[in-house]
Amino acid sequence: MPSDPTPVLLTTARLNLALLPPDGAARVLAYHEANRDHLGPVSPARPDNFFTVTWWRSRLAQDAEDWRRGLALRLFMLSRELPLSSAPVLGSVSLTDIRRGPLQSCEMGFGLDHRAQGQGLMSEAVRAVCDYAFGAMGLHRIHANHLPDNHRSAAVLRRLGFSVEGLARELVLIDGRWRDHVLTALLAPRPPAR
Ligand SMILES: CC(C)(COP(=O)(O)OP(=O)(O)OC[C@H]1O[C@@H](n2cnc3c(N)ncnc32)[C@H](O)[C@@H]1OP(=O)(O)O)[C@@H](O)C(=O)NCCC(=O)NCCS
Repeated sequence: MPSDPTPVLLTTARLNLALLPPDGAARVLAYHEANRDHLGPVSPARPDNFFTVTWWRSRLAQDAEDWRRGLALRLFMLSRELPLSSAPVLGSVSLTDIRRGPLQSCEMGFGLDHRAQGQGLMSEAVRAVCDYAFGAMGLHRIHANHLPDNHRSAAVLRRLGFSVEGLARELVLIDGRWRDHVLTALLAPRPPAR
């Protein structure tokens, strides 16, 4: 699928979901700095310069390129009540490893500012991203994996209709340990029978 080179912008009741340009690097960095202890324990090892504006400038440029090439879509969650150009980053939802041909699948990841939990914002964002993936992007299957004791993540996925498909042993290296993950997936809705 040829990707639209302009930034994707999805809107929900409370959120804008957007690809940020490289000059949004300071806002993404502020989000990660405020959530080191919250996101670190569920994230794969990060590069040494992860907590720098330089790294985020180049990563956001790469995000635009990955989307242009149809490889990945990494969206940031911003409050709809604030201007796009200055709203702080509340979280992110990413579709990576987008596969075409007979698979039409991707991997989904997400994270939310610890101060924004408990309001249904992630469920709202994930619902919009899944609708977009199955609609405009034409994907058929979305995979999402979580640590067995990540009950909040499991609850978001359950709420959105993801089904557990199994347990992958030692799937991801996190903080020096190979960690098992629960595998879940959501399939595109079937068109109504005629
Ligand atoms: C996983 C994570 C995104 C879940 O965040 P969350 O705030 O629990 O999820 P939501 O934003 O969907 O909010 C759901 C909660 O808001 C409540 N809520 C309040 N208003 C709501 C509304 N309008 N709609 C839906 N839920 C609402 C729900 O009842 C639920 O509360 P509960 O946890 O007490 O049952 C967050 O904990 C996180 O970022 N964790 C670290 C990163 C991570 O684990 N990522 C996934 C890796 S696989």
